[in-house]
Amino acid sequence: AHQWRGVVAEYADRLPEHVRERVVTLGEGGTPLVAAPVLSERTGADVYVKVEGMNPTGSFKDRGMTTAISAAAGRGAKAVVCASTGNTSASAAAYATRAGMTCAVLVPDGKIAMGKLSQAIAHGARLLQVDGNFDDCLVAARKLAEVYPVELVNSVNPDRIEGQKTAAFEVVDALGDAPDIHALPVGNAGNITAYWKGYREYAGRLPEAPGGTLPAVATRTPAMWGFQAAGAAPIVLGHPVDQPETIATAIRIGNPASWAQAEAARDDSGGVIEAVSDDEILAAHRVLSAEVGVFVEPASAAGVAGLLRRAAQGHVPAGARVVVTVTGHGLKDPSGPCAPPTAARSCRSGWAPTSCPSRPRSASS
Ligand code: F0G
Repeated sequence: AHQWRGVVAEYADRLPEHVRERVVTLGEGGTPLVAAPVLSERTGADVYVKVEGMNPTGSFKDRGMTTAISAAAGRGAKAVVCASTGNTSASAAAYATRAGMTCAVLVPDGKIAMGKLSQAIAHGARLLQVDGNFDDCLVAARKLAEVYPVELVNSVNPDRIEGQKTAAFEVVDALGDAPDIHALPVGNAGNITAYWKGYREYAGRLPEAPGGTLPAVATRTPAMWGFQAAGAAPIVLGHPVDQPETIATAIRIGNPASWAQAEAARDDSGGVIEAVSDDEILAAHRVLSAEVGVFVEPASAAGVAGLLRRAAQGHVPAGARVVVTVTGHGLKDPSGPCAPPTAARSCRSGWAPTSCPSRPRSASS
């Protein structure tokens, strides 16, 4: 019987040699691409969700962390650092533990989901809760990595992008070719950068990439549709946002590190980057949980929110094949939109039980 071996082993011929010297893996990748008839019916398209919450620490970050930590281990690194809205810190903490490294994480104080914080602590990370937002944390993490012998494992580390591009490979492997449209949430913009790289490589459009001269697997590339939360939509607005705000804490980011790469992905692919409101995110979250059967964290619903809105505006061609990445597991943030009344009342993220569109009104009294 075949057991999935993690993205480095599965896609070894398309990854740089230096990530393969000392592979640190928790079996990440190989996540389900689930047909979503409910979304297909609503959009008139053929919609699939790529369920990245099925990764070992519950988010897509594990794909890039296996490569970043493997590369760091290969270079003999003893410690890593990252800034995070939660998922990167959970993933870095787990993979660093696996590699026998020290891990320091900088997170915005009080603004990350409890599940993610628990993971970082359980995996033994040194936790630095910063009085500021993610962007402040990233500035500080970059400085730490300059001054101390620690490696930065945010997505500005190119090894992260190499690992994350494997999600695009998996989509093509599952569907037989690239979809017409790929939708996903955008925060620090590493993931849209990685998908676009993966799709181009698999279509033989980046011959200089590792494995770029292998036979093309896809005949085409999709239009990349990225969605930011309206209160944290710097790429849409065209300028950084000083005080980003959204219930989707994972993408509460005002100055994305991979801004230029995200714009390139949008423009080269004939795609869009748009903003979705918190209400649209919550409505999409409800569709995913209560109709599709997939429980995600709030930020992960942004791609579905964007797809539904663009479909309503007539921008989704009939029968188009659409893949939407849902980036993180719902259990990361269970105090959020669907918590039972008592938990919701004490929820620090401020969702009142009655304001939650994911639960019927009658159940909230
Ligand atoms: N969805 C989730 C669940 C995330 O955790 C993130 C980013 C994104 C989407 C956006 O991806 O940054 O590559 O554009 N989380 C980072 C973190 C910032 O620290 O965990 P992106």
